[in-house]
Formats: sequence, structure tokens, C-alpha cells
Amino acid sequence: MVFRADSDTQIYFQIGDPLRFATAAVLHNAMFAYANVNAVSINKVVKKGELGRFIEGVKDLDIDGFDITMPHKQDVIPFLDEMDDISREFQSVNHVNYRNGKLIGTTLDGIGMRLAIEAEGVDLRGKNVLILGAGGVTGPVAAEICKAGASRMAVLNRTPEKAETLAGQLEKHFAAEFMPDAMTPETLCRYAREADVVVQCTCLGMLDKHVDFEDLSFVGQLPPHAFVADCVIFPERTSLLRAAESRGIRGINGFGMLIWQQKAMLKFHCGVDVDDGFYDAGEEAIYTALALRAARDQRDARRAAGK
Ligand SMILES: NC(=O)c1ccc[n+]([C@@H]2O[C@H](COP(=O)([O-])OP(=O)(O)OC[C@H]3O[C@@H](n4cnc5c(N)ncnc54)[C@H](OP(=O)(O)O)[C@@H]3O)[C@@H](O)[C@H]2O)c1
Repeated sequence: MVFRADSDTQIYFQIGDPLRFATAAVLHNAMFAYANVNAVSINKVVKKGELGRFIEGVKDLDIDGFDITMPHKQDVIPFLDEMDDISREFQSVNHVNYRNGKLIGTTLDGIGMRLAIEAEGVDLRGKNVLILGAGGVTGPVAAEICKAGASRMAVLNRTPEKAETLAGQLEKHFAAEFMPDAMTPETLCRYAREADVVVQCTCLGMLDKHVDFEDLSFVGQLPPHAFVADCVIFPERTSLLRAAESRGIRGINGFGMLIWQQKAMLKFHCGVDVDDGFYDAGEEAIYTALALRAARDQRDARRAAGK
């Protein structure tokens, strides 16, 4: 399909620094095309300290909205006119819409993970959920899982104080029972025994971080019906997912979280509901973006080698 911009075209940006590895603009454009929305998303590097100037530009040019990645997810908050309770609680915003002269922010990471888990046929109502991590993405993810009806939630983190803070924040909004603790091989095994669902929100297992679980014996303690959701996108099968699979326990990686988030993105920015066919279009867009990136990397390497 050839995209033709006209005076009605909605304009969105994906902003952050660096953006070399970001696929959101490609994904958003595929989603706009799938939903037949006359809109375009453009990558724009906005460095730390440049956000105010960018936002002035959004207002001056009446830009429709933007998607935010590092390092602005928190820095954008003072500029907003409105935001929902969960984004405010966890001080994290990854989408901003500019509507009727107001900047409205939200975080869609959590809903992406919740929809990805539910798409696998997992009903979170009344479930005992084991959350690993207490970083930026964990709060919004845990909140959405509580909204979906989880009744007990253990939150384990390397730094236990952060798990306690996060559990306290969740307690303000949800009636589930929260159990914050340090993440050790012993606590992992103890909480795994009763877990229906495990949601892995740490950096462990990420391809470029070179840190992984030193001890995965807790996977052996999970009940056979358990389900494992990992936020990590690369590698596609983390050591955690492989350990779960070797026991016949089902799991998903962070791809679903990224793509299901697009359904919420279309609703938030454009007020459009899409059917579930959007998922295949999203997946194709990401793989296309990755192939293009690999081709660009090869070209740059050739040029650097003087070939
Ligand atoms: N799929 C998606 O769409 C999507 C979107 C956003 C993020 N993610 C993924 O979600 C994960 C977390 O992102 P984030 O933004 O929350 O990161 P973050 O704020 O930097 O938090 C990192 C988390 O990982 C833990 N951690 C880091 N190194 C560790 C180690 N060596 N041992 C044990 N725990 C360790 C940290 O524990 P401490 O608190 O003790 O430091 C913290 O809980 C990343 O893998 C990211 O790629 C996926």
C-alpha cells in the first residue's frame, strides 16, 4: 500500500534517545494501515534535556501525539495536563495524546502484557501470580494483572526494599493480597510452588545485558498448570522459558506484550477498536523492521571496513 499524507493526516512521533533499536514507529504505521486510520508515526531523536522544546513544538504545530521510550518516560510527567491513576502511581508514561489543547499521558506496557497473557487463554481471575522484578515496567504490568482479577501476588526483587515499595503502591489501588520479598533461590522456590502464573519483569535473560538467572531450580517447583510470561523480547526463548518448556509448562516472551499494546494504542490515540487480526500485521511489521535493521548494520559494517 502506498501511504499518501494529506491535510487530514494525524501526525505522531516516537521519541527517545537512542532510537536506533526502536521499532515502535514501524509498528504504529502498520497498525494505522491495518485500522485504516489516516495517520503516520515518525522516529525523532529527542535527547535528555530537549523534551521541553519538543513539547513546545507539539503544541505549536498541533501534533496529535507521541510515543516515548528512554530516557523520557518519567521526565514527561510535569508537562502533562492529565494522566490516569496507575501512570501517576508508578510515574511512568509511554504514550501522550494532544487533544483539545491538553496533553494526556498514559502507560500501555501493562495492558500489553495482560492482553498477551489472556490471548493465550489464561483467565487471571482469582489467580496466584508470582511477579519477578520491581523496576519501571513492573508496576504497570502488576497493576493490569490485578485489574484482571488476580487475588494473590508475590513480588520478588533483587533489592527487596523496591519490592516492598511496589507492593505498597499496589495495595493502594487493589484488594489482592501482596507478598513482597527478596528474590533468592529459596524464595523463588517457595512462591513458585503456589504460582498459577509467573510474570518475569527483570532484565535477566536479555540478550544484550549478559545477566541471567543463576539458579532456575524454582521452575521445577511450579505446578504443571502454571503459565510463564517473560517481558524479555530477545532472545525469543529465554533460559526461563526454555526451562519451563522442558517441563511442558506453557509460556510467552515479550513480543506479545509489545504487539498487544498496539490494540490499546489505537484506542487511546485514535478511538479505534481493531479485531484480533491486527496481531499478525504487527508481528510482520516487527520482523520487517528487524530485517531492515540487520541489513543496515551489515551495510554500515561493510562501509566501516572500506568495502
Ligand atoms: N516486551 C515489552 O514490550 C517490554 C516493554 C518494556 C520493558 N520490557 C522488558 O522488561 C524488563 C524490565 O524493564 P524495566 O524498564 O522495568 O527495567 P528497570 O527499571 O531497569 O528494572 C530492572 C529490573 O531488573 C532487575 N535486575 C537487573 N539486573 C539484575 C540482576 N543481575 N539480578 C537480579 N535482578 C536484576 C532489577 O532489580 P533491582 O531493583 O534490584 O535493580 C529490576 O527489578 C526488561 O527486560 C525490558 O526489556 C519489555
